[in-house]
Amino acid sequence: MLTGKTVFISGGTGHLGSEICRACFEYGGRVIFSYHRNQEAAKKLMAEIPGSRAVPIDLLNVEGIRTTIERLYDEVGAIHALVNNAAISQIMPLPLVEEEDVDLIMDINIKGTFFITKHVLKGMIRNKAGTIVNVGSIAGARMLDVPVTYAMTKAAINGFTFALAGEMKRFGIRVNSVVPGLLDGGVGQGVPEELRKDFVAHCAAGRAGNAREVAELACFLASDRASYINGQNIAVDGGI
Ligand SMILES: NC(=O)c1ccc[n+]([C@@H]2O[C@H](COP(=O)([O-])OP(=O)(O)OC[C@H]3O[C@@H](n4cnc5c(N)ncnc54)[C@H](OP(=O)(O)O)[C@@H]3O)[C@@H](O)[C@H]2O)c1
Repeated sequence: MLTGKTVFISGGTGHLGSEICRACFEYGGRVIFSYHRNQEAAKKLMAEIPGSRAVPIDLLNVEGIRTTIERLYDEVGAIHALVNNAAISQIMPLPLVEEEDVDLIMDINIKGTFFITKHVLKGMIRNKAGTIVNVGSIAGARMLDVPVTYAMTKAAINGFTFALAGEMKRFGIRVNSVVPGLLDGGVGQGVPEELRKDFVAHCAAGRAGNAREVAELACFLASDRASYINGQNIAVDGGI
C-alpha cells in the first residue's frame, strides 16, 4: 500500500504517532518521524522500525521547522505523505485558562501544524504529488464535555483540511483528516474516569478505540488506494 513511499509523521514518539509509524512500515513505507522531548522513545522506535529516521521538531519553533524540513528534503529527495499527528491537550476548566495557555495550544496544534505542512508542501508541489493526513479529534466535531481550548484547535484542523484540499487540488495533492474518538492512551489518558465511562456508554463499540484502529485509516488515506478521497474529515470513533 505504501511501497516506495516516504512518509513523514509528526509526533512519532506518542501513543498514536508510534502506531502510525509501525503501520506505515508494515505497509511498505519508509518512515521518518519527528519527536519533541522524548528522545528515548525516538531511539527505541528507530531501533524497532528498520530504515526509520527520527528528527527533533518543536512545533513552537517555526524557524526550526523550516530548517529541519529543508535539511530533510536535501537528504531524502521526496516526501510522499505527511501525517500531522503531533498535538497537545489541556485538561483544565475554562475559568482557570489563562492567555498563555490559549497561546500555547494554538501555537502547537494549529500554527506548528500549519508550518510543518507549508514546508513539506514545497517539495510536494515541486513533484506535483503527495498526500496529507491530518489528525483531528471528535472533540472538535461534537458537543462533548472536553477541554474547550483543545476542542477549538481540533475544530480548526477540520477547516484546515477542507481549505488545504481546495488549494492543493491543482497540484494533485490530496488532503484528508482522521477524526479519532477517545483512545486507550495518549492525550485520552487524562480524561476523567466519569467522562470516559460516559463516552463508552454512548459509543456503539462500547469501548475506547486503540491506536492501531486509527493508524489503519491514516495509512490508507496516505496511500494511492485512497486516490478518490479528498477534503474529508473521517471519524474513527466506534460509532457515536
Ligand atoms: N489519545 C486520544 O484519545 C486521542 C483522541 C482523539 C485525537 N487524538 C489526537 O491524536 C494525536 C496524537 O495524540 P496522542 O494521544 O498520541 O498524544 P501523545 O501520546 O501525548 O503524543 C503527542 C506527540 O506530540 C509530540 N509533541 C508534543 N508537544 C510537541 C511540540 N511542542 N512540538 C512537537 N511535537 C510535540 C510529542 O512528542 P514527545 O513525546 O517527543 O515530546 C508526542 O510525540 C493528536 O493530534 C491528538 O489530538 C488523540
